[in-house]
Parts: sequence; structure tokens; C-alpha cells
Amino acid sequence: MTLAAHALRLSFSHSGAGSIHALDDVSAQFAVGELTVIVGPSGSGKSSLLHALAGIALPQLGQVTFGTTVVNALPEPQRDAWRLRHCGMVFQDFRLIDELDVLGNVLLPAQFQSARLPNGLLSRAQQLLEQFMVPRRLGSVARLSRGEQQRVALARALLLDPSLILADEPTASLDAENGQHIAMALKTLAHDGKTVVVVSHDDKVVALADRIVTLKAGRVQSGSVVLG
Ligand SMILES: Nc1ncnc2c1ncn2[C@@H]1O[C@H](COP(=O)(O)OP(=O)(O)O)[C@@H](O)[C@H]1O
Ligand SMILES: [Mg+2]
Repeated sequence: MTLAAHALRLSFSHSGAGSIHALDDVSAQFAVGELTVIVGPSGSGKSSLLHALAGIALPQLGQVTFGTTVVNALPEPQRDAWRLRHCGMVFQDFRLIDELDVLGNVLLPAQFQSARLPNGLLSRAQQLLEQFMVPRRLGSVARLSRGEQQRVALARALLLDPSLILADEPTASLDAENGQHIAMALKTLAHDGKTVVVVSHDDKVVALADRIVTLKAGRVQSGSVVLG
């Protein structure tokens, strides 16, 4: 199913400055099997677009569609259920739960799904942590390095095998080797049939893009949708 933004406008009111259009008439399509990389200067609306695609930020105008579902028109409980079922999200600030350890954070999406941990999810969580080379560590995730936390956030996003993967600068805290590893993992997910949308400035990620969307001041730069 295709994920698409149709003429999105998302505004925030700033005291003094009036309101700012974080997204201004943004349209873009994100195809199954493709890695799309969103680039643009700081403040150009990259995170806002990702949050709108995930149904976290609601645009004042326009639609986000996933197949025939109009995501932003769903009532909140259905939108949350839609996101849990279809969407794996890596936030720019990770949004890990400091009170939980590594495994607790990765297994978090399963807790929202059912009270009992379904068969196989514990081993899937462990396998993802191994794939991303996160050391087995008990105690709060707050004690991990930023790079380790970033990889925990990615493992959590992938736990329930979502068809959409939305990742906000997922290699920003990683060293070159880990960054390359994660960039390749995202590319492989796309080629395995996922829809992968990544905000990134990282050359290692941009080099693997099937499509690049450039934002500037909340608008898609004309001619910026490039097939890689
Ligand atoms: N929650 C918010 N409240 C107010 N303004 C916001 C909020 N989120 C984003 N903005 C504003 O929207 C614009 C785009 O922000 P953002 O999407 O975070 O850009 P980027 O991810 O490209 O750096 C910026 O001007 C920012 O200040
Ligand atoms: Mg951002």
C-alpha cells in the first residue's frame, strides 16, 4: 500500500512571530520497496513531515493516506491502533523510557498490543539487538551511550515487523561503522518490501536512497524528487 502526503499544511503558533507553516502544501508519495530520504536544512519541516506521516501531528489542511485509509481523519484511538499495526517510528530524540532496560524498551510496542507477550517476540527482540550490536546490559537505558540508545530505538521500531518504517536522523549519533551498518539495514528493509522513509543528512544514507525529497522552509523543492 502506498503512503502519501497530499497538500499538507501544518502550522504552529509562535508567540510574537504569529504562526509558522512547518509544512506548506507538501505532497509526496512513498512507495513500497523504496528507501526515500528526506533532506533539507534545519527547521525546513523534515521532522514535522515524518510526524504527519505517522499520524502524530495533524495537518490543518491536506491528507495523509495509506492505501484507502485517510490517516489524519481517523479518531485518535483508531489512529493509535493504525500506527501500532503499520508504523515503526524512530524519533529524533529516541523517546526511550529511562525507567526500563534495553529489552523492556524494545518490547514496549508488544505491551500496547496485548497483556501477554506473544510467542517469539522475546527472541525477535534479542535478535534485533544482536543485529544492531547493542550490548546486553541490565539497568536503565539512560546509562547507554547515545549511539547505543539510537540502536535500541531502531530495534523497538522494528519489533512488530511494520510495513512502514519512519526514521528521523537514525544514524546521527552513530560512528561511521555503525552508521554504515544501520544504513544498509534500512536499505535491506526497503528491498524486502517495506516502505522506508528516513530523514537524514548522512552521506551513507543518502547514497543508498531510491528517492530523495528536499524540503526548504516547509515546501518540497521543485525538481527535488530524485530517483536514485
Ligand atoms: N511542536 C512545535 N511547536 C512549535 N513549533 C514547531 C514545533 N515543531 C516544529 N516547529 C517549527 O516548525 C518548523 C519545522 O520544524 P521541524 O519539522 O522540526 O524541522 P526539521 O526537522 O527540518 O529541523 C520550525 O520552524 C520549528 O520551529
Ligand atoms: Mg528534525
